[in-house]
Amino acid sequence: MRFIINGNSVEVEADIRTSLLDVLRDHLGLTGSKKGCNQGACGACTVLVDGERINACLGLAVQYEGREITTVEGLGTLGSLAPLQQAFIDHDGFQCGYCTPGQLCSAVAMMSEVERGVPSQVTRDLDVDAIAFSREEVRERMSGNLCRCGAHNGIIDAIESVYGEASR
Ligand code: FES
Ligand code: FES
Repeated sequence: MRFIINGNSVEVEADIRTSLLDVLRDHLGLTGSKKGCNQGACGACTVLVDGERINACLGLAVQYEGREITTVEGLGTLGSLAPLQQAFIDHDGFQCGYCTPGQLCSAVAMMSEVERGVPSQVTRDLDVDAIAFSREEVRERMSGNLCRCGAHNGIIDAIESVYGEASR
């Protein structure tokens, strides 16, 4: 199978039944994406496929052949963190860090959904040109990413500090 992962073209030989998450972690050594529940309930495995967020544990890698995949390793690097990564540090958006890669990838796609006017369960007015950025919207839209450490307030603060400003 061939993919573009974090901007690099990669080829993997794997059993056709292998999940995308297992290909990333076990075949390519991209262990940033985490395996929490392995059944679509926690969001720890969230990655971007062509900019859309997906749970990598739920999809077979072969479904995403030829697509552009971004993992947390592609968002920023140690010496050059993405603004959202820095914001998670500044706002105590994590404790153990296990959910963090998924939170980061999910937040990037979440903001793109808001910008494109994709409504959520709590969007009240579907007639507006631009959906208002609010904590309620962020909480709802990030509800698929669970944090067992209970860092959700810091996570929302971090997201708001980066994207709240951008949306004003
Ligand atoms: S590991 Fe994929 S949703 Fe939990
Ligand atoms: S920081 Fe520990 S699970 Fe979120």
